[in-house]
Amino acid sequence: MTTPDITLNSGTTIPQLGLGVWQADNEETESAVRFALDEAGYRHIDTAAAYGNEEGVGRGLSSSSVPREDIFLTTKLWNSDQGYDRALAAFDESLTRLGTDYVDLYLIHWPLQDNDRLLRTWEALEKIAESGKAKAIGVCNFEPHHLQLLVDRGGMLPAVDQVELHPHLPQHEIRTFASEHGIAVESWSPLGGTSNAGWGPLSKPNILLTDPIITRIADRHSVSPAQVLIRWHLQNGLIVIPKSVHNDRIAQNIDVFDFELDDLDLSEIATLDDGVRVGMHPDEMNMGAPA
Ligand code: A2P
Repeated sequence: MTTPDITLNSGTTIPQLGLGVWQADNEETESAVRFALDEAGYRHIDTAAAYGNEEGVGRGLSSSSVPREDIFLTTKLWNSDQGYDRALAAFDESLTRLGTDYVDLYLIHWPLQDNDRLLRTWEALEKIAESGKAKAIGVCNFEPHHLQLLVDRGGMLPAVDQVELHPHLPQHEIRTFASEHGIAVESWSPLGGTSNAGWGPLSKPNILLTDPIITRIADRHSVSPAQVLIRWHLQNGLIVIPKSVHNDRIAQNIDVFDFELDDLDLSEIATLDDGVRVGMHPDEMNMGAPA
């Protein structure tokens, strides 16, 4: 079975499962993207200007045999480029690095603390959406109070809010707010995050792949812990972008459509909800913000 699509409020569709590439360098990214598209059946790639690997994504896309129009491509605007003019320029730079003339989804990476600047950034994203160079626009790491700013403003609403989300942090409040406003929720660090210590305050050990509850459920279904976690996101209606640069794991992470978690599995996973994060809380994150 292929990855199901979710219809966004933009009218476009997004494959519910994609490949994440945070903390992969350009070479690793190029090879992971090509393998994911050509060999593993992925049709959705998620990157960001801040990951420093948009060129690698672009090379992976252009060297793959899958046509661009069959691929859903997301990138994100970094904090230092917030503001109307800077956002427009940064978007064009991302397109150049990606070697494409449009993206399927363009996201504000973090809300920052300056609401006026944030709203000017959103205005720029609306203009980009109107130009057709982003088929949909959205946000990341927006709490309900940030989303409310956009609701109150009365323009376009984000198609997606991409937030840290996994069984330790199921983000019930954000999901409720988002569903009331037709915003899809996308999970980052869906497997509990990377154990690669190398990115400042966001580097923490993985908190789920060796969890006894997750491994016990994995044994019951004869699948891997990562596959259990990916099913949890899919069965919760979330868009999920597990990151890997290893071909066997990239293939394994999309091989999740021939089993289902049952009520017992889901109730056991629900006991992990303790609010533990692997990243920063958006209200405390202002990294790279323009002065
Ligand atoms: P790697 O890229 O070396 O495979 P998240 O998506 O939550 O950020 O987690 C990604 C982390 O989990 C990365 O460190 C990735 O490492 C690792 N990972 C991805 N897929 C699997 C898998 N199927 N089994 C074990 N580890 C995985």
